[in-house]
Amino acid sequence: MLGNWGRDMVNIVVLSGAGLSAESGLGTFRDVDGLWTRYDLAQVATPEGFARDPALVHDFYNARRANMADAAPNAAHVALAQLSLMPGVALVTQNIDDLLDRAGATDVIHMHGALSRALCAACDARWDAPAVMTAKDACPACGVAATRPDVVWFGEMPYAMARIEDLLARADLFVSIGTSGTVYPAAGFVDLARRAGARTLELNLEASGGAFDAVRTGPATEVVPGWVAEIATGV
Ligand code: NAD
Ligand code: APR
Repeated sequence: MLGNWGRDMVNIVVLSGAGLSAESGLGTFRDVDGLWTRYDLAQVATPEGFARDPALVHDFYNARRANMADAAPNAAHVALAQLSLMPGVALVTQNIDDLLDRAGATDVIHMHGALSRALCAACDARWDAPAVMTAKDACPACGVAATRPDVVWFGEMPYAMARIEDLLARADLFVSIGTSGTVYPAAGFVDLARRAGARTLELNLEASGGAFDAVRTGPATEVVPGWVAEIATGV
């Protein structure tokens, strides 16, 4: 395993998906009762869907924002927050919830955006999202009623890709937590990390089938704190 912390400085990139927040009560997308089994992704998570019916999209994200406000970080979020305080650790998440941040993680890279942030489609201004957003809300910067959740939809480019690719190119260890590995570019991160010479580990309720050096299955609230404890003690 990794050397004792501090002596053998290692760079660790941790990617997380919806499975990290599942035990906090926030739904995943493609599990049995996942969001995409109850909503048409094309209607609520694409720019075309938003153009066609912005009220429907705001309703979808207002409901998810309310769920997020009622949710609390779980033991996996807390363990990753502690890990993020160590040098050489980068947390990249596909999740748009704020549970890692609320657990105390610093500098979380939200590649799919954040439910807690609003975006103006007219002038690109960003601000803290109110609990309930509507298509009639005027942008506080330019006044145009073109506000949307600051969330990356299918077909849009994720945030911070250059920074993420640089982190993967320097990674010694890449850990994927609670993601099905079906949406690119996140699904390709394990290959980028391996090509850079990193070891790769998946922590998931069940193996996603991705090409990892090692897989540990179990609920995130069990397997994540166990792995973080190993890293912290350098076993
Ligand atoms: P993609 O082709 O990468 O998505 C592939 C997966 O998304 C598919 O395997 C399927 O599981 C699912 N999917 C795609 N279209 C679907 C549909 N109509 N119904 C059900 N499932 C569907 O998606 P993309 O268009 O290439 O997206 C690329 C960008 O969009 C990526 O950058 C990704 O980060 C971003 N994105 C963000 C969100 C979000 O809600 N934040 C959702 C999806 C994608
Ligand atoms: N502990 C660990 N993993 C879990 C748990 C749990 N308690 N519950 C579910 N999982 C795992 C599932 O095994 C699955 O691999 O979480 C994953 C959920 O996969 P998805 O629902 O596809 O979610 P995710 O991989 O985050 O989706 C990627 O797709 O729609 C887009 O932008 C959206 O960010 C999302 C992206």
